[in-house]
Amino acid sequence: MKLYIITGASRGLGRSIKELLQNKYTVVDISRSSKDFPCDLTLTETIPETLNKVFSQYKIHSYKQVTLINNAGKIKPVALLGNLSTKEIQDNISVNLTAPIVVTNEFLKHTNSYKGKIKIINLTSGAAKSPMPSWPAYSAAKAGLENLSNCILQEQGLRCEVFCINPGLIDTDMQKHIRDMNEKDFPDIERFINFKEQGLLVPPIEVAQRVLKEAKESL
Ligand SMILES: NC(=O)c1ccc[n+]([C@@H]2O[C@H](COP(=O)([O-])OP(=O)(O)OC[C@H]3O[C@@H](n4cnc5c(N)ncnc54)[C@H](OP(=O)(O)O)[C@@H]3O)[C@@H](O)[C@H]2O)c1
Repeated sequence: MKLYIITGASRGLGRSIKELLQNKYTVVDISRSSKDFPCDLTLTETIPETLNKVFSQYKIHSYKQVTLINNAGKIKPVALLGNLSTKEIQDNISVNLTAPIVVTNEFLKHTNSYKGKIKIINLTSGAAKSPMPSWPAYSAAKAGLENLSNCILQEQGLRCEVFCINPGLIDTDMQKHIRDMNEKDFPDIERFINFKEQGLLVPPIEVAQRVLKEAKESL
Protein backbone atom coordinates (compact mmCIF):
# COMPACT_ATOMS: atom_id res chain seq x y z
CA MET A 1 0.00 0.00 0.00
CA LYS A 2 1.12 3.57 -0.68
CA LEU A 3 0.13 6.83 1.02
CA TYR A 4 -0.14 10.11 -0.89
CA ILE A 5 -0.48 13.50 0.79
CA ILE A 6 -1.52 16.10 -1.76
CA THR A 7 -2.18 19.79 -1.32
CA GLY A 8 -4.97 21.36 -3.38
CA ALA A 9 -6.81 18.18 -4.38
CA SER A 10 -10.28 19.72 -4.01
CA ARG A 11 -10.39 20.71 -7.69
CA GLY A 12 -8.30 21.12 -10.85
CA LEU A 13 -5.17 19.06 -11.41
CA GLY A 14 -4.92 17.97 -7.77
CA ARG A 15 -8.41 16.48 -7.80
CA SER A 16 -7.62 14.52 -10.98
CA ILE A 17 -4.37 13.21 -9.48
CA LYS A 18 -6.34 12.14 -6.41
CA GLU A 19 -9.03 10.45 -8.52
CA LEU A 20 -6.45 8.41 -10.41
CA LEU A 21 -4.52 7.32 -7.32
CA GLN A 22 -7.38 6.61 -4.95
CA ASN A 23 -8.60 3.59 -6.94
CA LYS A 24 -5.58 1.75 -5.64
CA TYR A 25 -3.91 3.75 -2.87
CA THR A 26 -4.61 5.94 0.18
CA VAL A 27 -4.76 9.62 -0.82
CA VAL A 28 -5.38 12.58 1.49
CA ASP A 29 -6.13 16.13 0.43
CA ILE A 30 -5.01 19.26 2.24
CA SER A 31 -6.96 22.29 0.98
CA ARG A 32 -9.45 24.84 2.29
CA SER A 33 -12.46 22.83 1.09
CA SER A 34 -10.96 19.41 1.80
CA LYS A 35 -13.11 16.77 3.46
CA ASP A 36 -9.89 15.06 4.62
CA PHE A 37 -7.74 17.77 6.17
CA PRO A 38 -9.13 21.30 5.72
CA CYS A 39 -6.37 23.89 5.90
CA ASP A 40 -5.88 27.39 4.56
CA LEU A 41 -2.27 27.39 3.38
CA THR A 42 -2.05 31.18 3.70
CA LEU A 43 -2.22 30.58 7.46
CA THR A 44 1.32 29.24 7.62
CA GLU A 45 1.37 28.67 11.38
CA THR A 46 -1.54 26.18 11.13
CA ILE A 47 0.28 23.88 8.68
CA PRO A 48 2.35 21.87 11.23
CA GLU A 49 -0.81 21.00 13.19
CA THR A 50 -2.50 19.79 10.00
CA LEU A 51 0.47 17.55 9.20
CA ASN A 52 0.40 16.25 12.80
CA LYS A 53 -3.22 15.23 12.23
CA VAL A 54 -2.38 13.47 8.95
CA PHE A 55 0.48 11.48 10.48
CA SER A 56 -1.44 10.56 13.61
CA GLN A 57 -4.37 9.28 11.54
CA TYR A 58 -2.23 7.36 9.03
CA LYS A 59 0.48 5.13 10.49
CA ILE A 60 3.17 5.34 7.86
CA HIS A 61 5.02 2.19 8.93
CA SER A 62 2.21 0.16 7.39
CA TYR A 63 2.88 1.75 3.97
CA LYS A 64 5.71 0.80 1.61
CA GLN A 65 5.84 4.31 0.10
CA VAL A 66 4.85 7.77 1.35
CA THR A 67 4.59 10.60 -1.18
CA LEU A 68 4.04 14.33 -0.75
CA ILE A 69 2.62 16.25 -3.72
CA ASN A 70 2.94 20.04 -3.38
CA ASN A 71 0.25 20.97 -5.90
CA ALA A 72 -1.88 23.76 -4.36
CA GLY A 73 -1.39 26.98 -6.29
CA LYS A 74 -2.76 30.48 -6.61
CA ILE A 75 -2.29 32.82 -9.59
CA LYS A 76 -3.74 36.02 -8.11
CA PRO A 77 -2.81 38.86 -7.86
CA VAL A 78 -2.58 39.34 -11.63
CA ALA A 79 -1.47 42.95 -12.22
CA LEU A 80 1.69 44.89 -13.04
CA LEU A 81 4.04 45.78 -10.19
CA GLY A 82 3.01 49.11 -8.74
CA ASN A 83 -0.63 48.01 -8.67
CA LEU A 84 -0.62 45.09 -6.24
CA SER A 85 -2.01 44.84 -2.73
CA THR A 86 0.48 43.74 -0.07
CA LYS A 87 -1.96 41.21 1.39
CA GLU A 88 -2.47 39.58 -2.02
CA ILE A 89 1.30 39.36 -2.57
CA GLN A 90 1.68 37.76 0.88
CA ASP A 91 -1.09 35.24 0.23
CA ASN A 92 0.34 34.29 -3.15
CA ILE A 93 3.84 33.66 -1.76
CA SER A 94 2.32 31.81 1.21
CA VAL A 95 0.42 29.32 -0.95
CA ASN A 96 2.96 28.91 -3.77
CA LEU A 97 6.22 28.97 -1.85
CA THR A 98 6.05 29.22 1.96
CA ALA A 99 3.50 26.38 2.23
CA PRO A 100 5.56 23.90 0.15
CA ILE A 101 8.63 24.69 2.31
CA VAL A 102 6.70 24.27 5.58
CA VAL A 103 4.78 21.18 4.42
CA THR A 104 8.03 19.60 3.17
CA ASN A 105 9.76 20.40 6.48
CA GLU A 106 6.94 18.73 8.44
CA PHE A 107 6.77 15.79 6.01
CA LEU A 108 10.50 15.10 6.40
CA LYS A 109 10.24 15.45 10.18
CA HIS A 110 7.45 12.86 10.33
CA THR A 111 9.22 10.47 7.94
CA ASN A 112 12.61 10.78 9.62
CA SER A 113 12.72 7.22 10.96
CA TYR A 114 10.56 5.73 8.20
CA LYS A 115 12.31 2.90 6.37
CA GLY A 116 10.13 2.76 3.25
CA LYS A 117 10.43 4.85 0.10
CA ILE A 118 9.73 8.58 0.28
CA LYS A 119 8.98 10.84 -2.64
CA ILE A 120 8.22 14.54 -3.13
CA ILE A 121 6.52 15.87 -6.27
CA ASN A 122 6.40 19.66 -6.71
CA LEU A 123 4.14 21.25 -9.34
CA THR A 124 5.93 24.17 -10.96
CA SER A 125 5.08 26.37 -13.95
CA GLY A 126 6.69 27.71 -17.11
CA ALA A 127 6.59 31.08 -15.32
CA ALA A 128 9.44 29.90 -13.06
CA LYS A 129 11.91 30.09 -15.93
CA SER A 130 10.11 32.56 -18.23
CA PRO A 131 8.64 35.12 -15.82
CA MET A 132 5.28 36.45 -16.95
CA PRO A 133 4.56 40.20 -16.66
CA SER A 134 1.54 40.73 -14.37
CA TRP A 135 2.32 37.54 -12.47
CA PRO A 136 5.29 38.77 -10.41
CA ALA A 137 4.48 36.97 -7.17
CA TYR A 138 3.51 33.70 -8.90
CA SER A 139 6.61 33.76 -11.16
CA ALA A 140 8.93 34.49 -8.23
CA ALA A 141 7.29 31.85 -6.04
CA LYS A 142 7.50 29.13 -8.69
CA ALA A 143 11.19 29.97 -9.31
CA GLY A 144 11.65 29.54 -5.55
CA LEU A 145 9.79 26.23 -5.61
CA GLU A 146 12.20 24.93 -8.27
CA ASN A 147 15.14 25.92 -6.09
CA LEU A 148 13.45 24.28 -3.10
CA SER A 149 13.26 21.06 -5.14
CA ASN A 150 17.03 21.28 -5.82
CA CYS A 151 17.68 21.89 -2.12
CA ILE A 152 15.67 18.82 -1.08
CA LEU A 153 17.57 16.76 -3.65
CA GLN A 154 20.94 17.93 -2.36
CA GLU A 155 20.04 17.48 1.30
CA GLN A 156 18.25 14.15 1.08
CA GLY A 157 20.29 12.43 -1.64
CA LEU A 158 19.08 8.91 -2.30
CA ARG A 159 16.79 8.90 0.76
CA CYS A 160 14.06 10.83 -1.06
CA GLU A 161 13.10 10.93 -4.73
CA VAL A 162 12.28 14.49 -5.84
CA PHE A 163 10.38 15.56 -8.95
CA CYS A 164 9.66 19.12 -10.02
CA ILE A 165 7.14 18.95 -12.84
CA ASN A 166 5.74 21.68 -15.09
CA PRO A 167 2.23 20.47 -16.00
CA GLY A 168 1.80 22.91 -18.93
CA LEU A 169 -1.53 24.51 -19.85
CA ILE A 170 -4.46 22.90 -17.99
CA ASP A 171 -8.18 23.59 -18.35
CA THR A 172 -8.84 24.51 -14.70
CA ASP A 173 -10.15 27.39 -12.58
CA MET A 174 -6.66 28.90 -12.60
CA GLN A 175 -6.85 29.50 -16.36
CA LYS A 176 -10.37 30.88 -15.94
CA HIS A 177 -9.07 33.39 -13.36
CA ILE A 178 -6.46 34.49 -15.92
CA ARG A 179 -9.05 34.96 -18.70
CA ASP A 180 -11.30 36.90 -16.28
CA MET A 181 -8.66 39.63 -15.86
CA ASN A 182 -8.71 42.87 -17.87
CA GLU A 183 -6.19 44.04 -20.46
CA LYS A 184 -4.96 46.90 -18.27
CA ASP A 185 -3.86 44.53 -15.51
CA PHE A 186 -2.82 41.74 -17.86
CA PRO A 187 -1.76 43.01 -21.32
CA ASP A 188 -1.17 39.43 -22.58
CA ILE A 189 -4.76 38.34 -21.85
CA GLU A 190 -5.69 37.81 -25.52
CA ARG A 191 -3.14 35.03 -25.87
CA PHE A 192 -4.71 33.18 -22.93
CA ILE A 193 -8.25 33.64 -24.29
CA ASN A 194 -6.96 32.16 -27.56
CA PHE A 195 -5.45 29.15 -25.74
CA LYS A 196 -8.97 28.27 -24.58
CA GLU A 197 -10.64 29.02 -27.91
CA GLN A 198 -8.08 27.01 -29.86
CA GLY A 199 -8.51 24.00 -27.56
CA LEU A 200 -4.93 24.23 -26.26
CA LEU A 201 -5.92 23.79 -22.61
CA VAL A 202 -5.52 20.13 -21.67
CA PRO A 203 -8.17 18.38 -19.51
CA PRO A 204 -6.81 17.95 -15.96
CA ILE A 205 -7.27 14.16 -16.02
CA GLU A 206 -4.89 13.87 -19.00
CA VAL A 207 -2.32 16.12 -17.32
CA ALA A 208 -2.65 14.10 -14.10
CA GLN A 209 -1.81 10.92 -16.03
CA ARG A 210 1.28 12.56 -17.53
CA VAL A 211 2.43 14.01 -14.19
CA LEU A 212 2.18 10.63 -12.47
CA LYS A 213 4.03 8.95 -15.35
CA GLU A 214 6.83 11.56 -15.14
CA ALA A 215 7.04 10.93 -11.40
CA LYS A 216 7.40 7.18 -12.14
CA GLU A 217 4.09 6.31 -10.48
CA SER A 218 2.28 3.24 -11.75
CA LEU A 219 -1.50 3.20 -11.60
N1 LIG B 1 -3.73 25.59 -14.76
C1 LIG B 1 -2.61 25.73 -15.45
O1 LIG B 1 -2.64 26.02 -16.67
C2 LIG B 1 -1.29 25.54 -14.78
C3 LIG B 1 -0.11 25.77 -15.54
C4 LIG B 1 1.13 25.58 -14.94
C5 LIG B 1 1.22 25.17 -13.63
N2 LIG B 1 0.07 24.98 -12.90
C6 LIG B 1 0.22 24.55 -11.50
O2 LIG B 1 -0.50 23.34 -11.29
C7 LIG B 1 -1.01 23.29 -9.94
C8 LIG B 1 -2.50 23.03 -9.93
O3 LIG B 1 -3.14 24.12 -10.59
P1 LIG B 1 -4.69 24.09 -10.99
O4 LIG B 1 -4.78 24.71 -12.32
O5 LIG B 1 -5.26 22.75 -10.75
O6 LIG B 1 -5.27 25.15 -9.92
P2 LIG B 1 -6.80 25.36 -9.44
O7 LIG B 1 -7.75 24.68 -10.34
O8 LIG B 1 -6.92 26.82 -9.23
O9 LIG B 1 -6.82 24.60 -8.02
C9 LIG B 1 -6.00 25.07 -7.00
C10 LIG B 1 -6.02 24.12 -5.81
O10 LIG B 1 -5.18 24.72 -4.79
C11 LIG B 1 -5.94 24.86 -3.59
N3 LIG B 1 -5.64 26.11 -2.90
C12 LIG B 1 -5.64 27.36 -3.41
N4 LIG B 1 -5.46 28.27 -2.44
C13 LIG B 1 -5.35 27.56 -1.28
C14 LIG B 1 -5.17 27.92 0.08
N5 LIG B 1 -5.10 29.20 0.46
N6 LIG B 1 -5.11 26.94 1.00
C15 LIG B 1 -5.21 25.65 0.65
N7 LIG B 1 -5.35 25.24 -0.64
C16 LIG B 1 -5.45 26.19 -1.58
C17 LIG B 1 -7.42 24.85 -4.01
O11 LIG B 1 -8.23 24.30 -2.97
P3 LIG B 1 -9.28 25.17 -2.10
O12 LIG B 1 -9.81 26.26 -2.95
O13 LIG B 1 -10.27 24.16 -1.65
O14 LIG B 1 -8.44 25.68 -0.96
C18 LIG B 1 -7.41 23.91 -5.24
O15 LIG B 1 -7.61 22.59 -4.84
C19 LIG B 1 -0.63 24.63 -9.29
O16 LIG B 1 0.54 24.48 -8.55
C20 LIG B 1 -0.39 25.54 -10.50
O17 LIG B 1 0.49 26.59 -10.18
C21 LIG B 1 -1.17 25.15 -13.44
